[in-house]
Amino acid sequence: MAKKILVTGGTGYIGSHTVVELQQFGFEVIVVDNLSNSGIEVLENIERITGLKPAFEEFDLADRILTDDFFARNNDIDAIIHFAAFKAVGESVQKPLNYYRNNLVSLMNILENQIRFGISNLVFSSSCTVYGQPDVLPVTEQTPRKDAESPYGNTKRISEDILRETIAVNPQIKGIALRYFNPVGAHSSALIGELPLGVPQNLVPFITQTAAGLRNELKVFGNDYNTPDGSAVRDYINVVDLAKAHVIAIERLLKAKNKSNYEVFNLGTGTGLSVLEVVTGFERATGVKLNYEIVDRRAGDVEKIWADTSFANEELGWKAEKGLDETLLSAWSWEKRVRGIK
Ligand code: UD1
Repeated sequence: MAKKILVTGGTGYIGSHTVVELQQFGFEVIVVDNLSNSGIEVLENIERITGLKPAFEEFDLADRILTDDFFARNNDIDAIIHFAAFKAVGESVQKPLNYYRNNLVSLMNILENQIRFGISNLVFSSSCTVYGQPDVLPVTEQTPRKDAESPYGNTKRISEDILRETIAVNPQIKGIALRYFNPVGAHSSALIGELPLGVPQNLVPFITQTAAGLRNELKVFGNDYNTPDGSAVRDYINVVDLAKAHVIAIERLLKAKNKSNYEVFNLGTGTGLSVLEVVTGFERATGVKLNYEIVDRRAGDVEKIWADTSFANEELGWKAEKGLDETLLSAWSWEKRVRGIK
């Protein structure tokens, strides 16, 4: 019988791409999402890609009563991937309590139910934000974490701690924290992708919305960083490559190939690209000219970060495969489909 995987936040950006990969691998998927930052139509689009509609329940995992009730009815789940969380860095500064309550309480509710019902396996969405501005690049999983720059970043750091400390005294639970670098792009079908509410905060959705004519111009935040062209450097990882790493992580847990009960992996490409390189990459890949202007640095941004991916390469046998042009083209195809542009 197919193993049953709970995907929280499964209608969201990374979650939806992961549901597709899990289904295509042969797992049975149940999605829980409160639809606070995604739409129900995502489930139909997943079905169009895979031919399978995942089971779905709409509720908030920060609600203890609803979460307990869900697990009481679904205690045959084999593994959980926990994506559901708030992720807007700027908003988290304005509403710290919302972020701590939502992101931490949901994780605690899940872990308590794992202990209660003997559900061993958890994959957790962490972030390279836990490294802050590292002193040495690229960052390995051993690079010391720094104080978070935002409540959002702090929720990822504290969540990792909650997971590690809980596992230390509950050896029946096994966890893998995946530290994502900057996920970008969309599924090659253009049926699922990133659809931010309101004005996009992240670079690639802002680029594609500018190209689509929804925004007048892209603002490039800073050109006086200590980087080759002065703009900030990140490690942009294709969301489908990222999704595939989750399938491998789940397999690792289910087949007990993990080396310790709590493991952490960087998921990136291993290459740093500047904001201006992404802008010119987009123009090259799509043939669309971008209107952009250099403005001041954005508060809270780190100067540069990219991943050392050797641990994920060696231990998971996983490597980012898609190049920048293909990734940016996929983001553009998705934006065009959503906006009805030919
Ligand atoms: C941030 C978080 C990351 C989080 C992600 C998801 C930090 C250090 N990183 O990534 O943990 O998972 O958001 O929301 O907190 N840029 C522009 N113009 C724009 C938008 C962005 O120049 O309109 C630049 C930024 O200054 C940055 C780069 O593009 O240098 C990437 O920005 P963004 O996509 O927002 O991601 P991060 O801030 O790296």
